[in-house]
Amino acid sequence: MNSVITIDGPSGAGKSTVSRRLANVLEFRYIDSGALYRIAALEVMDRHIEEPSDEILAEICRNLDVVFSNGKEQNRIFSHNKDVTEMIRSPEISMLASQLSARPVTRECLTSLQRGMADNMNIVLEGRDAGTVVFPDALVKFFLDASPEERGKRRFKELSLKGSSVSLEQVTQEIIKRDQNDTSRQFAPLRPAADALIIDSTTMSIDEVVDRMIQEIKLKKIEGV
Ligand code: DC
Repeated sequence: MNSVITIDGPSGAGKSTVSRRLANVLEFRYIDSGALYRIAALEVMDRHIEEPSDEILAEICRNLDVVFSNGKEQNRIFSHNKDVTEMIRSPEISMLASQLSARPVTRECLTSLQRGMADNMNIVLEGRDAGTVVFPDALVKFFLDASPEERGKRRFKELSLKGSSVSLEQVTQEIIKRDQNDTSRQFAPLRPAADALIIDSTTMSIDEVVDRMIQEIKLKKIEGV
């Protein structure tokens, strides 16, 4: 049987870096479910649709053609054979993805897509509802958190390195706004699964978080790990 490890948590808590590292160490497949929501948002934006109906959203989500190319430090993401890695990280796409992710039709479609992607493989799945909805029977569940201020600082540093001129204040406000959207939505709101190990990474390094996770995983005695 395949093993599923889920890592949920708010934006900027370090999920992507940690999930990728963990998947590399364990030699599991890494799936970034946020990228699926972002690619759906990109399709909506590319088609210049102001308010997509459920039918259009279902059509878009069902026809997503996403390939994750997992490298050691950097992953590339392709949609219909086009590299969209950077494009899907824009603030506009972040906001639209957050809005579309509140729609049941989007969630239903992308939940089945994630289950299909796991397809009998050992996976590390990063998301918001990976442990609560997508894989409620996952073997090990983590909820990675950090204070909004710390998450704002991390995202700000990332964006500044890429040459962006947004202020720390703007970035932190946007994170708080997205937290509100993600935790208050009616369907699959962001919350830890009852059996998730909650890790607050505010004062922890990435290595410390990954080590803590590996410690927990070892307790489960997964075959080959
Ligand atoms: O993890 P991220 O920032 O790339 O996610 C983009 C948006 O998609 C975010 O606002 C929350 C939403 N999302 C979700 O609702 N469920 C998921 N499993 C993953 C992301």
